[in-house]
Amino acid sequence: IEAALSGGPLSGRHILVTSGPTHEPIDPVRYIANRSSGAQGSAIARALISLGAQVTFVTGPADAPRPPGAHVLEVQTAQEMHDAVISALPADAAIFAAAVADWRMAEASTRKLKKSKDGLPVLAFAENPDILRHVSGLGDNRPGLVVGFAAETDDVIDNATAKRDRKGCDWILANDVSPGSGIMGGTENAVVLIDATGADTWPRMTKDDVAQRLARRIADALGAVQN
Ligand code: CTP
Ligand code: CA
Repeated sequence: IEAALSGGPLSGRHILVTSGPTHEPIDPVRYIANRSSGAQGSAIARALISLGAQVTFVTGPADAPRPPGAHVLEVQTAQEMHDAVISALPADAAIFAAAVADWRMAEASTRKLKKSKDGLPVLAFAENPDILRHVSGLGDNRPGLVVGFAAETDDVIDNATAKRDRKGCDWILANDVSPGSGIMGGTENAVVLIDATGADTWPRMTKDDVAQRLARRIADALGAVQN
C-alpha cells in the first residue's frame, strides 16, 4: 500500500541512465560516431520512471525521444558524459546504456582539415575515460547497483562475462549486435543478463519489453536493500 500511494516500487530512488552515442570531434565540421539510436536507453529511463524512480538521463546526440519526467543532461563527447555522470551522483543505481566512443582524437583540430597534395591526413587517437569502470570502482559514492551493457558480435556470453569482471559492475546486459541481428537501430533486442551467479538468456523482445523487464528486476534488487 505504501509503494502504491507513493507512486511505485522505485519511488524515492534516484537512478542514472546513460544513453545514445557520443560524438568525438575531428575538426569543427567532422566527428567520430557510432550507430547507437538511444532507443534502448530511452526505453529504460521511461520504464524506471513508470515505476516511480527519479531518473537522471545523460544522453549523447541521439534521435530517441527524451523520456518525459527525466532530468536530462545532453552531452556530445565521452569526456562530457563522464563529467555529467559524476556530477549527477549519488544514485541508488546506474545503468550504462550509452555506446561511448572508445577513442577520441589526441588533439581535435580547431581548423577544418583541408585536402592537400602532400597526402592523406593521419589521425592520432587517445583513449576515452571508461565511465562504467570508473563508477564501478568508486568507494562511498558507488551506486548500490551498477549495470553495464556489452555490445558483442561473437562469443557473446564469454565476452560479456569477462567484461563484467573487468568493469567491476554488478550486472551486464549482453546483446548480439552482429550486422544480421538487426538490433543496432532496430526496435527489438536479444539480451543475456549476466550477474555473479551466471547468465540468464531472455527471449528476443522489443526494446520496450527489455526495458520493463530490467526495470522490474532493478526494483526487486533495490527492494531487497533498505531505502
Ligand atoms: N562504457 C563506458 N565508457 C566507455 C566505454 C564503455 O561507460 N568509455 C560502458 C558502456 O556504456 C557499456 C559498457 O561500458 O555499458 C561496455 O561497453 P563496450 O563498448 O561493450 O565495452 P568496452 O570496454 O569499450 O570494450 P570493447 O573493446 O568490446 O568495445
Ligand atoms: Ca567500446
